[in-house]
Amino acid sequence: MIIETFITTLFQQNTRILACAETRRAVCIDPGDSADAIAEFINGNNLELQAITLTHAHLDHIGGVFDLHKIFPQAEIILHKDDEDLYYNLPTQPLFMGIPRHELKALGLEYEMPPRLSRYWQDGEIYGVGNLQFKILHCPGHTLGHVVLAEEKMRKVFSGDCLFAGSIGRTDLPGGDYEQLINSITDKILPLGDDVTVYSGHGDDTKIGHEKATNPFLTGAYQMTQGRFA
Ligand SMILES: [Fe+2]
Repeated sequence: MIIETFITTLFQQNTRILACAETRRAVCIDPGDSADAIAEFINGNNLELQAITLTHAHLDHIGGVFDLHKIFPQAEIILHKDDEDLYYNLPTQPLFMGIPRHELKALGLEYEMPPRLSRYWQDGEIYGVGNLQFKILHCPGHTLGHVVLAEEKMRKVFSGDCLFAGSIGRTDLPGGDYEQLINSITDKILPLGDDVTVYSGHGDDTKIGHEKATNPFLTGAYQMTQGRFA
């Protein structure tokens, strides 16, 4: 399995190319930006981009969809239906986050309307990329339609902004719900197994077992109210 990470946007988002080493079939998870560098990697490694696979529709995860899809128009764009409104509201997302309109350009947060979605993720579906098989798990809490992609044979999960090394996703933005996020992590992600490597939307990779043992949001180390630490 080929995994290449590109750190994009001022939010330091981990955009990734995942590819089957045998068949060269590939997907791009969460292109925040940097479409040219992503395309160079795809073409330079003789990969075929079959889809842009989105964990959720926050701007730092979808800001590069427009440019990447222009280069690879045959690639499907897949998102959970519950994040569709966020997706098509990309141009106004920075304003919802409280960023003044006159600062958007300087911050690189001026966005075009993203291209039409091809279809929606279904909870529990198995999504094939060559010989890789990703199980799609709906994990709401950070956003309504957040999903994670688990390659169980490879012992890897791509967790978007649900679970980070030492932390969890924020829940103070529209659609966020702290209790729901903890339930998603506990019921859907942790049961994948302690040895599974977690590739997050921000920050370093980690292992589920390590997070179970040390992540203060999962160990109960802190008494928390919704969104206070996220
Ligand atoms: Fe996010």
